[in-house]
Amino acid sequence: MKGIILYFSKYGATKKYVDWLSKSTNFDVVPVKKAKKSHIKDYDVIILGSGIYASGIKGVKFLRKHAKLLSDKKVLIFCVGASPFDEKAFQTLKDHNLKDDLKHIPCFYLRGAWNMDKMTFIDRTLCKLLFKMLAKKEKDKLEVWEKALLAAGNRVVDWTNERYLAPITKYLANLNQ
Ligand SMILES: Cc1cc2nc3c(=O)[nH]c(=O)nc-3n(C[C@H](O)[C@H](O)[C@H](O)COP(=O)(O)O)c2cc1C
Repeated sequence: MKGIILYFSKYGATKKYVDWLSKSTNFDVVPVKKAKKSHIKDYDVIILGSGIYASGIKGVKFLRKHAKLLSDKKVLIFCVGASPFDEKAFQTLKDHNLKDDLKHIPCFYLRGAWNMDKMTFIDRTLCKLLFKMLAKKEKDKLEVWEKALLAAGNRVVDWTNERYLAPITKYLANLNQ
């Protein structure tokens, strides 16, 4: 099967997963910002990989725009965040990002990286504001991802690991059977 990985990676963690995945699958790789209709039409398997930014998955708009073309394709999404995996938080994220005709698309979660020094001024300011808000919240009321971001704080952390791709490669292998 001919496959393509469309991706959005602001700080590189998602791109690391994209590179590992493209190596093991031989799928083509295109930034979702440069993606065209032909990048769906000409492929059997379409993967969207994106970092999570303020609970948003980038590139979903592109899939939504071409939802009709996707109906006879194998599609999957993976998103990369700083939080450890949490079933409830992941369901909320999916409900928020994958509505209507995108609801059925299988979605996987991978853990990324965190480095405030590398962030743009705006992103760093946003994160500092978030920290201030979270500091006022009662500790036992914090969501899993909120706790994780607070714990990461100013530290440089890289949780990426090729092994986290196993459920995705397993899913892709099953498509070939
Ligand atoms: C402005 C901003 C908002 C973020 N919001 C979230 C979030 O809502 N949930 C989460 O798990 N991680 C969040 N993160 C962490 C990123 O998802 C994480 O750093 C990821 O590795 C980014 O992928 P990238 O390196 O490919 O850009 C946020 C990061 C930034 C800079």
